[in-house]
Amino acid sequence: MTDADFLVMRGIRKSFDVTEALRGVDFSAQRGEVHAIVGENGAGKSTLMKILSGAIPRNAGEILVEGIAADVSTPLTAHRLGIRAVYQEFSLVPHLTVAENIVLGQMPSSRVPGCVDWAKAYRRAE
Ligand SMILES: Nc1ncnc2c1ncn2[C@@H]1O[C@H](COP(=O)(O)OP(=O)(O)OP(=O)(O)O)[C@@H](O)[C@H]1O
Ligand SMILES: [Mg+2]
Repeated sequence: MTDADFLVMRGIRKSFDVTEALRGVDFSAQRGEVHAIVGENGAGKSTLMKILSGAIPRNAGEILVEGIAADVSTPLTAHRLGIRAVYQEFSLVPHLTVAENIVLGQMPSSRVPGCVDWAKAYRRAE
């Protein structure tokens, strides 16, 4: 693993109370590669991906994108780096429409401040 790798996660640690979920995980990927993270139940796969996509904070370790420290402190900042998470289950807001679920957190704003451009939202969803 070098800083020239497209994505670098180095020494990632995460504990939930007394549970040490990640104990210094290293992961790197090149642009265009496809990886599968494999491990038994509770191995920490989801935790690692949640940290990468800004859903939860890490306790230690660094994350670089194209050699630069990546701000994955929130889902929005991770999203700006092109990091997206698609969850298998329980990831939709049931009382929102399909389009609203798709643009959740990135609603296109209209010219009127504070208002949503719904036409644009529906086009994006399509
Ligand atoms: N929010 C949380 N609070 C407390 N403990 C958690 C939390 N999230 C995960 N853990 C614990 O951290 C460890 C790693 O869990 P994680 O969900 O990342 O595993 P996983 O590899 O994705 O498992 P699975 O194959 O079941 O999806 C487990 O011991 C789990 O119980
Ligand atoms: Mg999981």
